[in-house]
Amino acid sequence: MNVQWFPGHMTRAKREMQEKLKMVDMIIECRDARIPLSSENPLLLDLAKDKPRLIVLSKQDMADPIATKAWMHHLTSENTKVITVDLLEKSSRTKVIDAALEVMKPKFDRWKARGIGARKIKAMVVGIPNVGKSTLINQLAQKKIMTTANRPGVTMALKWANVHPKLDLLDTPGVLWPKFDDAKVGIRLALAGSVSEKVLPIDELAYYAFKFVLKHYPEALEERYQYSGDDVQAFFEHLAKLRLYVRKDELLLEQAYQTFLREVRQGTLGAMSFEYVENVD
Ligand code: G4P
Repeated sequence: MNVQWFPGHMTRAKREMQEKLKMVDMIIECRDARIPLSSENPLLLDLAKDKPRLIVLSKQDMADPIATKAWMHHLTSENTKVITVDLLEKSSRTKVIDAALEVMKPKFDRWKARGIGARKIKAMVVGIPNVGKSTLINQLAQKKIMTTANRPGVTMALKWANVHPKLDLLDTPGVLWPKFDDAKVGIRLALAGSVSEKVLPIDELAYYAFKFVLKHYPEALEERYQYSGDDVQAFFEHLAKLRLYVRKDELLLEQAYQTFLREVRQGTLGAMSFEYVENVD
């Protein structure tokens, strides 16, 4: 994934998002439970401040449950409900639909009072890349309905999917760009796979990931790699030897960096979160 956001591209994506937002009653915002803050997009708040919102923290199976609980509390507000899901589980469908109906209940009640009882909710899924938007849409529709390019700024014909007697969903998500203004955010996005690792020097990213895991989940290093020290250089040399990343007498450290980053990103070391409410600036 090549994340290069050009101003023209951004303007187009923003305009497209504004058009779509006009058509919906509520938004279902997908964020990665491991990085609930870094995977938000500030523009969305700007464009859709008053829309009822359901934040779906996806990949709960890969996130630290204690951190996730704190995030749920932190992100909940008057017109925003937060739930966590494993979108690979079929049961996530009912959880999301029930929560969406709950978010819309005040509006439903108002419609009813005005005699507009039969109106269905129109919703759209939004979020930055790789947070599970397509998985969520297909899960809600109970089939693969993603038909057009899942990229920002790509104009497409919109179709509605009837996912529940009271809920219609746009068949394509609103794709937002990640935040890039803060280096820490960029690192977290790369750790979770929402931007390519290539946006950062791989050794720096791997070093950061090691220090992070050492600080928060040291037992994972011991269990997965039988490493109990705290020396970053020594760790990657150990990993290169362990996985036989050796050519002649030379250790292929770059392969060790890639392996470690992939395993952290895929949750191979166990469930972990990459940011915590306590550290919100
Ligand atoms: P997007 O449309 O927002 O870009 O995300 P998409 O649905 O394509 O999901 C990105 C990846 O994350 C997919 O894996 C998908 O299966 C996985 N995923 C989504 N939600 C969950 C979840 O709740 N739990 C887990 N464990 N995985 C989830 P993929 O196709 O293998 O892609 P990748 O991992 O190779 O990027």
